[in-house]
Amino acid sequence: MIFRELCADDLPDVLSLFNELITHLIGETCDPYMQIDPDADLQEGLESYLRETLEGRNKNTIVAEDGGKIVGFITGEIRDSFFPPSVVKKIGYIFGAYTCPEYRRQGVMAKLEKILTDFFRSHKINYVELSFLSGNALARKSWEAMGYGVFREQMRKNI
Ligand SMILES: CC(C)(COP(=O)(O)OP(=O)(O)OC[C@H]1O[C@@H](n2cnc3c(N)ncnc32)[C@H](O)[C@@H]1OP(=O)(O)O)[C@@H](O)C(=O)NCCC(=O)NCCS
Repeated sequence: MIFRELCADDLPDVLSLFNELITHLIGETCDPYMQIDPDADLQEGLESYLRETLEGRNKNTIVAEDGGKIVGFITGEIRDSFFPPSVVKKIGYIFGAYTCPEYRRQGVMAKLEKILTDFFRSHKINYVELSFLSGNALARKSWEAMGYGVFREQMRKNI
């Protein structure tokens, strides 16, 4: 298996995995809030995010390739910390992460996460953040196993 930065030729494959990730999240949580608005240009939004990671110094996408097939990816960026007066001005943020079902539990995401966090570290970033839906038990277990801990919670109610 090869782990490397995204290149332009990978875009269709990674977009397809990004769509699998979104379908997974909708199915896993059965949350009506997650229904996609038919007027939202989801594909264009995802593609432009991924394209920016090709060009930008503050964004990066790493892919896992097996026999010429992309089997996982992680994408993220350097952002402002959520608390402006903090001594921590910038953080690394993981925006999307997905491993194809047949490649799970083989350390693919652990390796992708390490490469992305090394990228953040090389920009003098000391914290990496991400969020996941509360119903996504697999994400919780996986990120906790990779050293992440909850530091902020988000609530909502229907009104
Ligand atoms: C979450 C996800 C990215 C993990 O990818 P992965 O390549 O399987 O992860 P790894 O094999 O690197 O696992 C890392 C560690 O997480 C934990 N882990 C992963 N899957 C687990 C599971 N099903 N049950 C318990 N622990 C699990 C393990 O501790 C594992 O290390 P170990 O196998 O050495 O014990 C993958 O399951 C996935 O794509 N899920 C669907 C999409 C999703 O939820 N993405 C995250 C959105 S925030």
